[in-house]
Amino acid sequence: MKSEAMTEEAASSARQGAPEIADAGQPSAEHVISVADVTKRYGSKKEVQVTAVDTVSLAVSRGEFVVITGRSGSGKTTLLNLISGLTTPTAGHVVLDGVELWSLSDRQRSRLRNEHIGFVFQFPSLVPSLNVLENVMLPRAFGGNHVGDDVESRARMLLSTVGLEEKAAAHPRQLSAGQQQRVVLARSLVNRPTIILADEPSSNLDETTEQEIMELFERVHETTGVTILMVTHTSQLISWGTRSVRMAAGRIIGDEPVAQARSTQD
Ligand SMILES: Nc1ncnc2c1ncn2[C@@H]1O[C@H](COP(=O)(O)OP(=O)(O)O)[C@@H](O)[C@H]1O
Ligand SMILES: [Mg+2]
Repeated sequence: MKSEAMTEEAASSARQGAPEIADAGQPSAEHVISVADVTKRYGSKKEVQVTAVDTVSLAVSRGEFVVITGRSGSGKTTLLNLISGLTTPTAGHVVLDGVELWSLSDRQRSRLRNEHIGFVFQFPSLVPSLNVLENVMLPRAFGGNHVGDDVESRARMLLSTVGLEEKAAAHPRQLSAGQQQRVVLARSLVNRPTIILADEPSSNLDETTEQEIMELFERVHETTGVTILMVTHTSQLISWGTRSVRMAAGRIIGDEPVAQARSTQD
């Protein structure tokens, strides 16, 4: 999947770098995500422009669990949307699994997104008219290159991973918010994504349920090795990750490994 764009990308990042962040990393094929000097500005008139993301560079390696924190309005959601190709950058490069997103057609980009990214948002976005099992299988209806793999047994297996196999026939409204979020996590894994993008996945939950969801993210990370990028305004959640990235006013102001192992803190 290595492309010409990669070389250009690496060169561009090497030239520019981010002086205040020593180890932003050089983009390369082993990076699942490689964002170089990305800026997103909203508003057409200069006087009302908002720079939501300001010259951000970030490279994420396979298997990392990155927790991005920052206050509300610091650009976290915009950065996630840039990474998934849902938002067009004003400037800069976004490379997902070795592919420059904006070198693709809309259709190719949608396909790449569906096959490589699992999404978890703050509010569980389940289809009310479908049962739990059907919701988990749904991303497969939009593609995915897993011919010969039985989607129903995979969906049931994922439901058991999140502890909800007995709810397969239930409808979303019959589940609690925490249970719905667990279904969303199962759904996010159905296409065997390389990365899960999670935007404030526990912000709508009480503390106990938040803990349960985070334990589930940890288990999924450990058992599947999937790369996770989670954004949250709650800095207490940093310790669940392997790497902590901090944002303020559209910029990355800190990027460091999470030192402490989870098991020593409980
Ligand atoms: N679609 C949009 N149009 C205009 N401004 C936006 C839009 N989306 C986000 N912004 C602005 O960009 C900044 C960053 O927003 P956002 O990425 O949602 O931050 P966070 O997720 O950290 O709360 C905020 O000032 C916000 O108001
Ligand atoms: Mg947000």
